[in-house]
Amino acid sequence: MGGAAIIEQLMTTEGRSDPYPLYAKARELGPVAPIGDGMFMVSGYAAANKILRMPAFGVATAELLADLTPGYTEHSSLDLFGRSILQRNAPDQPRVRSLIASVFTARRVAALRPAVVAAVDRLLDEMAEQGADGSPVDFMDAFAFRLPVGVICELLGVPEQDRYRFRGLASDLTVALEFVQDLDELTDADSAAEELTRYFTELAVERLARPQDDLVTDLARIAAADDERLSAEELLANLVLLLVAGFETTTNLLGNGLNLLFHHPEAVAGLRSGAITPAGFTDEVLRFDSPVQVSGRVALGEDLVIEGVPIPPGHGVTLLVGSANRDPARYERSEVFDPTRTDSQPLSFGGGAHFCLGSQLARLEAEVAVPALLDRFPRLAPGGVPTRRDRLVLRGFETLPVTVR
Ligand code: HEM
Repeated sequence: MGGAAIIEQLMTTEGRSDPYPLYAKARELGPVAPIGDGMFMVSGYAAANKILRMPAFGVATAELLADLTPGYTEHSSLDLFGRSILQRNAPDQPRVRSLIASVFTARRVAALRPAVVAAVDRLLDEMAEQGADGSPVDFMDAFAFRLPVGVICELLGVPEQDRYRFRGLASDLTVALEFVQDLDELTDADSAAEELTRYFTELAVERLARPQDDLVTDLARIAAADDERLSAEELLANLVLLLVAGFETTTNLLGNGLNLLFHHPEAVAGLRSGAITPAGFTDEVLRFDSPVQVSGRVALGEDLVIEGVPIPPGHGVTLLVGSANRDPARYERSEVFDPTRTDSQPLSFGGGAHFCLGSQLARLEAEVAVPALLDRFPRLAPGGVPTRRDRLVLRGFETLPVTVR
């Protein structure tokens, strides 16, 4: 199978439900392989790691994509992500990223630990109550979604009563991050982008009038003081980015992690005995079934050669992160789930200039949640057939029924 056929297969429902055999085929073609239309796919760890860290590769900006795709600029979802740091290059991305980093500090994340512990306890109480009669509880809805949305909203300063409607909105909006074949598929994503933009516009105004100790207040103040440092559009795009990046992915980390526990009783035993640490477990879930499977870059510099393959300026690379994380050239027994691994460094949070700003927060949530879940429910078990979301880029479950008695 050639590179183009592999990408085509990855875009089918079957390919998305289990992309790993296709990744293995991709690696047979070499770590970097052409997929047609001047594009390349990168399936090897060393190559993907290098590209993520090389300033000569940038992200595909909205301006570039608009040139290539008729109708691109008419979609508010694409426009919104296009203004966020995720899809900007220097000088905008480092300017805005450093502002966000200056308010989204390690101190603020560490200070959230008691709130994370309390939220986990409360959600476990609710799950216990829901499943007290032995009926299945949907872990995705009852826990995996609620924990990260609560935490990121706490940090941003989104009032409690507004939080639960974000699941649908974020889920609609993130379709814009998938490989969209027909831009008409973006109708719901566009409406979600507009609603979330309106929401944060109002919240920013409210916080400027009545400041609180939260990120919306801090970032809105920076934007209000100096449009050159942070424009109003950048403020809104990045608040929405923080919201959706802050929970879709973490929700999937929790779901993918629990699914792996159900298939690996030895990991449950190891976590209970202390032979496996929550951090080691989290790292291996990230490596083995990454919540973000694909990223992309464009060659900005001249004469770029990756693992012997020349990548001409302007050409794009699709980084198969989920494949890089299982590259046998990087990991022994790469297809085996082994939470006792050390020095794993999966590429699930990216690398280089765009390295995930929320990795510490996501790790904190998983590392508190997993042991608490096992402690609270010694008989936690699958409660029905789980359903995967039909997505490639953001990989996770739609439902994951469990019984807790
Ligand atoms: C398991 C959870 C998470 C995963 C797997 C994840 C993954 C990623 C990846 C792969 C990127 C880089 C994309 C690229 O290079 O093109 C990224 C960027 C980003 N993430 Fe995360 N993320 C997670 C959780 C979070 C959380 C909790 C937050 C915020 C609270 C967050 C905020 C961001 C932001 C703002 C960026 C953009 C950084 C930039 O472009 O400079 N993420 N994330």
